[in-house]
Amino acid sequence: MSIIYDEKQKTISLHTKNTTYQMQIDRYGFLLHLYYGRYAEGCMDYLLTYYDRGFSGNPYEAGTDKTYSMDSLPQEFPSLGTGDYRTPACIIKNTDRTYCSDFRYVTHTIREGKYSLPGLPAVYADDSEAQTLEVVLEDPVTGVLAVLLYGVLPEYDVITRSVKIVNASKGYISVKKLAPACLDLVGGDYDFLTFYGRHAMERNCQRMPVGHGTSKIGSLRGTSSHQYNPAVILAEHDATEDAGSCYGMAFVYSGGFQSEAGKDQYSQTRLLMGFSEEQFAYPLNPGEDLQSPEVIMTYSGEGLAKLSQNFHRCIRTHLCRGKYKETVRPILINSWEASYFDFTGESLLALARQAADLGIEMFVLDDGWFGNRDSDLRGLGDWKVNEKKLGCSLGELITKINGMGMKFGIWIEPEMVNEGSELYREHPDWAFVIPGRRPNRSRYQLVLDFSRKEVVDYIYEQICAVLDQGNVEYIKWDMNRSLADIYSATADSQGRVLHDYVLGLYDFLERLVNRYPNILIEGCSGGGGRFDAGMLYYTPQIWCSDNSDAIARLDIQYGTSFCYPCSAMGAHVSAVPNHHTGRVTPLETRACVAMAGAFGYELDPDRLSDADKAEIRAQIARFHQFYDLLQYGDYYRLRAPATGCSVWEVAAPDGGEALVTAVYKTVEANAGLVRVQVQGLAPDTRYTVTLLQHEGTDRPHPEFLRPVVLTGRELERAGLVLPPARRDYQAWQLHLTRC
Ligand code: GLA
Repeated sequence: MSIIYDEKQKTISLHTKNTTYQMQIDRYGFLLHLYYGRYAEGCMDYLLTYYDRGFSGNPYEAGTDKTYSMDSLPQEFPSLGTGDYRTPACIIKNTDRTYCSDFRYVTHTIREGKYSLPGLPAVYADDSEAQTLEVVLEDPVTGVLAVLLYGVLPEYDVITRSVKIVNASKGYISVKKLAPACLDLVGGDYDFLTFYGRHAMERNCQRMPVGHGTSKIGSLRGTSSHQYNPAVILAEHDATEDAGSCYGMAFVYSGGFQSEAGKDQYSQTRLLMGFSEEQFAYPLNPGEDLQSPEVIMTYSGEGLAKLSQNFHRCIRTHLCRGKYKETVRPILINSWEASYFDFTGESLLALARQAADLGIEMFVLDDGWFGNRDSDLRGLGDWKVNEKKLGCSLGELITKINGMGMKFGIWIEPEMVNEGSELYREHPDWAFVIPGRRPNRSRYQLVLDFSRKEVVDYIYEQICAVLDQGNVEYIKWDMNRSLADIYSATADSQGRVLHDYVLGLYDFLERLVNRYPNILIEGCSGGGGRFDAGMLYYTPQIWCSDNSDAIARLDIQYGTSFCYPCSAMGAHVSAVPNHHTGRVTPLETRACVAMAGAFGYELDPDRLSDADKAEIRAQIARFHQFYDLLQYGDYYRLRAPATGCSVWEVAAPDGGEALVTAVYKTVEANAGLVRVQVQGLAPDTRYTVTLLQHEGTDRPHPEFLRPVVLTGRELERAGLVLPPARRDYQAWQLHLTRC
């Protein structure tokens, strides 16, 4: 039993293998949060303190007891109106135009299995793997309900949370703020880890102390965004990769969001994750409800590496779906950086032929194959194959590519329209434009109003008509601008449109994965502008960044790895000088970095030397050799890129082998040696450490070529000494195998 209700103490405890989460229904019916941390038994209400605190009011029922205040007690679902002046998880505008909600416990149920959320992505699990807790809270004055859902996956140390607001009142209400996850911690000295960025430089890790006042990150863009990622961590100030307490929250949502962390007047910490408040006012008529997306929460008492591994395992095995969750994914070549919009059917076939010759397994036709799209000025919305440009039908092109022994994939951007398109001429009101205003353009395109079903239906039919023309086995689903000019002609309230847009997107994706269960979908939004757990439910991999420079990718993939598994990160070897940074890095380094993701290529093989080609063949063989380890192994960040030598490790879950990859930023004369403590090995087992030498790999100093035998304990405690760089951007891979 992972969920236990103690009738006497009125506590509900959620236990996972290594963690415990506890709440209590108190004497006034408030649902208080008692504890989240290492596995523990017993009742933790001794952690609550009751003092007479000035300017912290008391609920009426407390009578003359000035020591009881919701302003200081930790809560499960804080709302405005109970005397808690901290940041609330929920604000509702009631029928009488007041903003007060006073939620009290009504009932709860515990059931086997994990709840699902209609129309929304969510973690899934068998009845034997999970339990669900549902707690019903009610504002007795308005009758509005808050139904709290908790999913507990004991083996994964994961607890998920969602909330449903039910308008059981007699009039119209509107939900102004909703954060399904709130974590009130009575003590501690925490840092807030967030992942900020920009187009072509996503998910840089920022670690800042949680102070008095609220630190808030989020996205107002209608998508999860390049600028802030909807996954955050609260870590003890002195927590490291392998020690200390840390809490993670990953929002399973692809729209606007916000996460807030702060200390209250008593230095207690609150962390929230939910919808962005801007342009949000979700209308509910009597009887209607709003189900929030869920948040995946995990706790590690053993530092950040364990926290990340918890996220990775859960996302990989209980959020990602479909054939390619388990099946080996093909190594692809994408046409974008090879030819951009400038191609013909013949040039594509030449590219595919050369890629096939290198051992690449799938050809992906990127942007430019439809309508009159020869640049980013026009064409989006007209999903008709440009047979003139291809010189044949799409079906014929695919047949030829399949004939080379390659799979075929295609790029689409269904949520968009250019003003220069048939679609826009016919349905100008299908794009987000506010009547009387000129819209913001971005990359010359406007966003289609996916909050309207007829728009989603129409585009869905167009896209299916393309996919049905041949043996398409992969889709790159792109989305190349932020939302603006939010106005939907048919909506009863504009405050619902941004969320309904995301529901429209999910509806489209759900229909697509059901109709084409064998197609692998890769998400993309100008690279990693919509890299979130919501998308991973439909697209098991997401193009990590448009920036394919191996050195920039060290930071991008490092930040991404805190919450997302390697199998989710689209990563390609591209040409040098890099198209985004102009940097020239060794082909070996580019491959080592891309292998820490969903591996592929994005270059023109025609411009490669024979030596490069031989090297690529060897890389492909190496990726196959290490596929299971790289995709399903336990990931460790051994040294951050900021140290100048970025080192990561993937260890087999049974400790049988590990692959350590190191990338130096610069070579130094007479350098000191880098030593890393290898993790995840069996202490008493002996391992042979071999520096991998492949076609194109540099020769290290000779002493590093001799295989070394060390025990797991030695490797973890004393560490492994890495060969120094022989040139800038040097990469080394060391393979550790059980003797
Ligand atoms: C976005 C993507 C790129 C490429 C282009 C095509 O920028 O991130 O990979 O597909 O669009 O227009």
